[in-house]
Amino acid sequence: MTTPGWLLTENASLQGLNTFHVAATAPRLLEVFDPALLPEALTAVAGEPLLVLGSGSNVLLAGDPPGVVLVFGNRDLSILEHRPDHAIVRAGAGVNWHQLVMWSLQQGLSGLENLALIPGTAGAAPIQNIGAYGAQVGEFIHVVEAWDTAQQAFARLTAEECAFAYRDSVFKREADRFLITAIELRLPLLHELRLDYAGIDDELKAMGVELPGAIDVANAVIAIRQRKLPDPDVLGNAGSFFKNPILPAAQVEALLQEHPALPVFATDDPGQRKVSAAWLIEACGWKGHREASDAGVAPSHALVLVNHGQASGADLLDLAQRISASVQERFGVPLEPEPRLVGARW
Ligand code: FAD
Ligand code: EPU
Repeated sequence: MTTPGWLLTENASLQGLNTFHVAATAPRLLEVFDPALLPEALTAVAGEPLLVLGSGSNVLLAGDPPGVVLVFGNRDLSILEHRPDHAIVRAGAGVNWHQLVMWSLQQGLSGLENLALIPGTAGAAPIQNIGAYGAQVGEFIHVVEAWDTAQQAFARLTAEECAFAYRDSVFKREADRFLITAIELRLPLLHELRLDYAGIDDELKAMGVELPGAIDVANAVIAIRQRKLPDPDVLGNAGSFFKNPILPAAQVEALLQEHPALPVFATDDPGQRKVSAAWLIEACGWKGHREASDAGVAPSHALVLVNHGQASGADLLDLAQRISASVQERFGVPLEPEPRLVGARW
């Protein structure tokens, strides 16, 4: 039997399509395996609201989405171009991000090692410019290929056109305009490894690695992440629930006068600093908190909201709003959610 180019299903459960594992139903689920047929598939659902999902590791389904949920099933992975110092790699939107990272390292390419073990799909990586351990995907993006719903045409956006920033991009600012069908990455054969971030160096020493290569760095990042972050297959979560707030330097100085232990990080703008949302939340007493609804905060990381089993999206949203209000009241710092909220407003 040949795989169809696209498939439409009525009343599809989304419980397996979000890493909080909350119950929700899509009135219609559109799976697209061949992006060349996307215009045809979209004609079949014309006029209905559209929500793209990858693997649902950065969404909170606080209600059912109103129309069609679109999922890309194209998982092709290839090297388009070999150059003396870099290669261009292309990944279909449905490729698993971590598999792409490990595959690129096995090809002798580097760059993505600090981004190992981030859940989700290649197609979603540019949306919030995924980042970890001092690296962000935007640094390696060559082209993002997408269906532009405003122009009704395929588009190829350069990294500059993607306007990447901390957990932000044009795709987030113009939500639902671009349906990303593939990404192309420019990966160096050799580059300076970033070891000075959040314990990578110490982890490598503990692993007995003296002269690390990119694969060693990926293994160190994997080990740190496995210790700190709950596995969504075991305990439903969407990673960091809040972004780390970026505040004027003067406000951060004032906070540090009263709370010298608050972790503070530099940003590209000398007038602004990023502060640790996890620290603020832990200081308000939420770490490890668990409610009767099964909504809670991870015991291993204060920034990670978790579903112990039966929590609904609305329960998790309600807890998030109370956490945010307590941080605002105690520290005067507003917290913004990182995951996309579906069926609710912040
Ligand atoms: P989804 O959650 O399905 O969607 C996320 C957003 O992207 C939605 O707005 C959706 O509409 C949109 N979208 C998805 N695919 C497409 C597409 N093809 N075209 C257009 N729009 C699309 N993130 C980090 O940045 N750094 C981390 O270190 C990190 N660690 C995490 C750890 C855990 C345990 C978990 C559960 C999550 C973590 N995340 C992290 C968040 C998440 O992994 C990323 O945001 C990831 O890119 C989401 O991918 P996804 O395929 O699951 O997207
Ligand atoms: N901290 C606490 N309490 C905690 C956890 C952490 O006080 O319970 C403090 C730590 O002491 C540390 C600081 O917070 O000094 C930072 O912690 P961590 O290194 O775990 O990083 P983070 O700022 O909480 C960010 C990203 C993660 C990414 C890591 C590693 C955001 C919102 N989150 O977390 O991304 O993996 O850095 O680079 O920027 C995600 O986006 O979903 C995500 C997991």
